[in-house]
Amino acid sequence: MSDSNIVEMSNMWDQRYSTQDWPTDPNDSLVELVKDLKPAKALDLGCGTGRHCIYLAKLGWTVTGVDSSKVGLEIAQNNSKKLNLTIETIHSDLLTFVPKASFYDLVILSYIHFKQENLKKIIGIALDSLKENGLIYAVMHHKSDLGKTGPPDPELLFETKDFEIFPDLKIKTLSEVRRDFEDGTFNTDVLLIAEK
Ligand SMILES: C[S@@+](CC[C@H](N)C(=O)[O-])C[C@H]1O[C@@H](n2cnc3c(N)ncnc32)[C@H](O)[C@@H]1O
Repeated sequence: MSDSNIVEMSNMWDQRYSTQDWPTDPNDSLVELVKDLKPAKALDLGCGTGRHCIYLAKLGWTVTGVDSSKVGLEIAQNNSKKLNLTIETIHSDLLTFVPKASFYDLVILSYIHFKQENLKKIIGIALDSLKENGLIYAVMHHKSDLGKTGPPDPELLFETKDFEIFPDLKIKTLSEVRRDFEDGTFNTDVLLIAEK
């Protein structure tokens, strides 16, 4: 969830990460994407407790995770150290974050929900940070998941068309992906894979 006052947002996520366990497995779609890629440099914007940073570091990637939750970043660092992995973490508001330019091969945006204007900024930051032909991997909760998962504000939920408005993205995949659970319920994600 995102897109409110940054102090409230960080406090909310600090509180959540202090009191609830957060998944440590990576998204299946990220696993699928990187399985044929040579380990390189990745930037995870809104990395939370670092599940994707850690997964990529295990595969030999050099990874930087950025988040405004200090508690999330502490968990990410502790979990990576337990596995003898090194990841870089940066405490920052994504909306003012200035990444190394043309440096990364892959940028991850996993369930970070911004309204259109701020999403535009984040996509701009991601594109600036990517090398030519670098990839953006984004996965977001779909609008149909309102009340099931993700932010409780419909304006912060996604449809595929929300990613069609960026002329600088060469879209490789843009789809709805259903995630089924053992109890018969399911969630729907919007998945974007695009090239700079
Ligand atoms: C739903 S969690 C997703 C975490 C992680 N990407 C994952 O998939 O496990 C959303 C994350 O975005 C971070 N976040 C939200 N707004 C942010 C902002 N403006 N700047 C930095 N981080 C932000 C939160 O602190 C939280 O860790």
